[in-house]
Amino acid sequence: MSIVRKIERDGLAVLPGLFPLPLLRRLRAEVLRRHESGELRERGLVRDIAGRYTSILPFEGPFLDARLYANPALAKVLPSLLGPDYRLSSLEAVIAESGAAAQYQHIDGPLRWGAGLSGLPPYALALATPLCDVDEENGPTALWPGSHRAAGPRLPSERAITRRYPQRRMTGRFGFSYLYDYRTFHRGTPNNSGEARPLLMLVFARSWYRDPNLQDVSAGVAIRERDLKKIPKRHRDLFLLAPAARRPLWGAKK
Ligand SMILES: [Fe+2]
Repeated sequence: MSIVRKIERDGLAVLPGLFPLPLLRRLRAEVLRRHESGELRERGLVRDIAGRYTSILPFEGPFLDARLYANPALAKVLPSLLGPDYRLSSLEAVIAESGAAAQYQHIDGPLRWGAGLSGLPPYALALATPLCDVDEENGPTALWPGSHRAAGPRLPSERAITRRYPQRRMTGRFGFSYLYDYRTFHRGTPNNSGEARPLLMLVFARSWYRDPNLQDVSAGVAIRERDLKKIPKRHRDLFLLAPAARRPLWGAKK
């Protein structure tokens, strides 16, 4: 089944080997360096829940690789799912520290549910790539495929979702990714291992969508002006939500 069809039907598609392993190893080293020095939490923090924190990562160094932000396999499917002018909404690291507890079941967006939302095509998709092997011990994400269509006038209860949809836990060897609709119910499971479980998150969205999870931070896409200039022109519109790409108005100097 095609990725587009899986996302439409299940709100979830597992994508093995989307990124070359040498690239992923460089990204992992960079994420762990920033995590261990404390700067990831200090400079990029979006939220911190139950021993699991999410931070914005800057597009710097190995993250400026087009195989990451404009991945050719993804570029084939994202226009059909999010429209031709889709954008990067954020680049994040999610670190489930050793001992992280279970997260509550949730959707990533919107924060308020509405009866009409279930019929819409996707407006935001998260691509999650664990930066290590993931097994039952170290906190795989549990998702309920099909639940992106579970909209009613009220947010369904955890019990209703659990009863109606099967659960899938995202375990696998380092190198696999999974793409999910922002409306698909999911949760982080406990990390009972002795090590942190780092996960890379790239969020893509329709041009009009503004992620409510980012309201406490200045932006979800952090890139320096000089690095933005080096992004090939054909990919530059992906970065339109970065402050460096915003148009200064009325003579304001950048
Ligand atoms: Fe989430």
